Amino acid sequence: MKEISIAVVGATGAVGKELLKILEQRQFPAKQIKVLASSRSAGKRLQVMGQELVVEETTPNSFKGIDVAFISVNTRLSGELAPIAVNAGALVIDDSSYFRMQPDVPLVVPEVNGEDVESHQGIISIPNCSTTPIVMLAHPLRRLSPIVRIIADTYQSVSGAGGGAMLELREQSRGLLDEGNSAPPQALPHQIAFNVIPRIDSFLSDGYTREEQKMLQETQKILHSTNVLVSATCVRVPVYISHSEALHIEFERPVSVEDAREVLGKMPGVKVLDSPEDSIYPMPWDVAGTDDIYVGRIRKDVSHPNGLAMWVVSDNLRKGAGLNALQIVEEVLRRDCLTPGRVAGVSQAD
Ligand SMILES: NC(=O)c1ccc[n+]([C@@H]2O[C@H](COP(=O)([O-])OP(=O)(O)OC[C@H]3O[C@@H](n4cnc5c(N)ncnc54)[C@H](OP(=O)(O)O)[C@@H]3O)[C@@H](O)[C@H]2O)c1
Repeated sequence: MKEISIAVVGATGAVGKELLKILEQRQFPAKQIKVLASSRSAGKRLQVMGQELVVEETTPNSFKGIDVAFISVNTRLSGELAPIAVNAGALVIDDSSYFRMQPDVPLVVPEVNGEDVESHQGIISIPNCSTTPIVMLAHPLRRLSPIVRIIADTYQSVSGAGGGAMLELREQSRGLLDEGNSAPPQALPHQIAFNVIPRIDSFLSDGYTREEQKMLQETQKILHSTNVLVSATCVRVPVYISHSEALHIEFERPVSVEDAREVLGKMPGVKVLDSPEDSIYPMPWDVAGTDDIYVGRIRKDVSHPNGLAMWVVSDNLRKGAGLNALQIVEEVLRRDCLTPGRVAGVSQAD
């Protein structure tokens, strides 16, 4: 694979740190790695692929000579930085929701719609970490019968809300156990220790949250189908890493558990872990730090003749973010389409 120069913006965050680990684990062909964050982190040292790298403050000049910029910062900042990086000649892989639904920005999970990278105009987005497991399962399953509807109830770890939320869970748990009280929440809207919060992101006028809306819209964009409907309830749980989801999938025709197991077992990046009689099913603690989407508890949905129910768990910082971002670049390099077709076509860059 061609050697490229990369920048990791948000290198000190939950996703950025995991991305740096994955670069090393996959022996990514980087000839230069720039680690960027806010001015607060400038000067910090990080060990990356056997080298000590010094974190630099992100500025408009940070992207000179960079082939690929991974941007893992908040949505507003992504909206500002990505066009600057594109205009400097970099391909941007953006983790935020800022560009995901723009028609000229591919939203990609390589195993599902890898060919979409070819239409990029400088920015490629990764989906929300709860959307990725859904499309990884829906893609092979819909070959058995078209999918009509998915009901998804999520159990999302605190790392999905960033490093600040991870610290909050640790400190609240310690405070409550040691002293019987804890500091008021900051990174999350309510106390998360020994609690669950049925809200991720802000509420919309229809009663769903933005996170739940993203799961519908992004699933349809990645699957290239507005026929698949998704109704989600997204819940934050006191788990550090890995998101879990209970899925109820309704097909046009009945689908057997055996056929579903077979196609899921053949899907690259999916592992079936389904032996309830031996107490084998995926759980977030076991899945954290691994690359695959794990599915278990696959069964007929007794409430619908064409329905299947299942339980899916994946590491939100890896396949839900850093790994997917890196796999997109590997796909781009394989298809030899690093150079954007039309840089000025990205609306924010105009
Ligand atoms: N966490 C997940 O599971 C997940 C999954 C998919 C997508 N995403 C998306 O990925 C993005 C990053 O999420 P995260 O969980 O990694 O958040 P995080 O842990 O809060 O990290 C945020 C990063 O942004 C950096 N940053 C803040 N202000 C900056 C500035 N002015 N200039 C440059 N860098 C700045 C921070 O640097 P300092 O340390 O210097 O403050 C830190 O490195 C978000 O858009 C999120 O929605 C996250």
